[in-house]
Amino acid sequence: MYPKPLVNRWREYGKHEILVNTNHDEIARLDFMANFFMYLRDDMVPNHKKIYEKKVKKNFRKKHKRYPKNRHEVRKAMLQDNYFKTWSHLRVYAQENTYSERRKIVNRQLGNLIDIAKPRKTDRGKVVIDPDFKSPKYQKHLDMHWMPGSYHSIFNKYEVAGGAMYDCGGLYLSTGNMLGKYNNGAAYAVIKWLKNNYPKFRPEKVLDEGCTVGHNTLPYKDAWPNCEIYGIDIGEPVLRYAHRRAESLGYHINFSQQNAENTNFKESTFDMVVSTMFLHETSHKAIHNIVSEAYRLLRDGGIMIHIEQPPFEMIKDPFDQLMGDWDTHNNNEPFWGPMHDMNLESVALKAGFKKNNIIQTFAPLICPSDEDKYRENPHGKWFVFAGWKK
Ligand SMILES: C[S@@+](CC[C@H](N)C(=O)[O-])C[C@H]1O[C@@H](n2cnc3c(N)ncnc32)[C@H](O)[C@@H]1O
Repeated sequence: MYPKPLVNRWREYGKHEILVNTNHDEIARLDFMANFFMYLRDDMVPNHKKIYEKKVKKNFRKKHKRYPKNRHEVRKAMLQDNYFKTWSHLRVYAQENTYSERRKIVNRQLGNLIDIAKPRKTDRGKVVIDPDFKSPKYQKHLDMHWMPGSYHSIFNKYEVAGGAMYDCGGLYLSTGNMLGKYNNGAAYAVIKWLKNNYPKFRPEKVLDEGCTVGHNTLPYKDAWPNCEIYGIDIGEPVLRYAHRRAESLGYHINFSQQNAENTNFKESTFDMVVSTMFLHETSHKAIHNIVSEAYRLLRDGGIMIHIEQPPFEMIKDPFDQLMGDWDTHNNNEPFWGPMHDMNLESVALKAGFKKNNIIQTFAPLICPSDEDKYRENPHGKWFVFAGWKK
């Protein structure tokens, strides 16, 4: 089975100076939750389709004289099924429970983490916080995927709680190490896709949008060591955390608090404007603005790349669409469904990209290991939405 059982999973997580300290009981609880997530994913999820095919779909046909047409009809029908409902409750419980554990771990050492995050004279990278910054409504009014306080909430001067909580397990535990122990597989997937398809492309300036704690910001420096890397986000706590994390791992990155819809960079500044798992947490209107802003920021010959899950129109079976839409209804991710319903080609065309330069394709999932940063993970793929400015 892949991945292997998650014994001591948290102890293997990628270390750096600002990562929380954990004691014996906290480690045990984090590892338990990691295993619980894997049980829900690997042992329970495969049964839903069997139940759907054998029972739910047939009952639907009896009643409506046809099969369900779309994910909304499948959802209504599956919500009558106790196994699906139980799994759904357990999945929400798992999410809330890990956050409550992570919050306790962060809170008992928050003062120390804040001290560690403060900029130092020896720092070579930067973090610029805008004292007048206003978070967009679609972020401010929501605890995204039930994360208490989400990415932006400030309770203390030099706040880092959002960053510390996000990095305390996060995707590493809930996906069973699908993206590597530094959670940076998405950036290595971007790099591998570029190197395989456009081997001559060597960016000198890269902007990572919605960078959070920089998991997928740093790898671009590994790929192109002379490249200047910029990371922007709306959340002060995640940016302050990202800055110290990057410095302690030996990367010098320019982080700043900015809205990707409307940045303060001059036009034609970047060779590559990239994001990983970002668009689906923003609104319909924001996505139009973000893609237009990316077009403005790119130099001629530059590329915009967004890494996401595939749009619903690319998923044929309405049942598989439903599973891809679970977060919209249950994980406090209201923009997930609407974003995956959008026609991204028309968004790019509106922003100025030419039809022939717009790309919608797939890239292999990468789970970096110590031996091989570009190790392919056979259990999935990324959807790539990209556009060359030419
Ligand atoms: C799911 S996280 C992205 C994860 C990150 N890219 C990674 O690969 O680890 C979404 C991030 O986008 C940020 N964000 C949301 N709206 C934004 C906007 N308009 N401009 C910049 N950042 C934004 C959030 O604060 C959050 O940190």
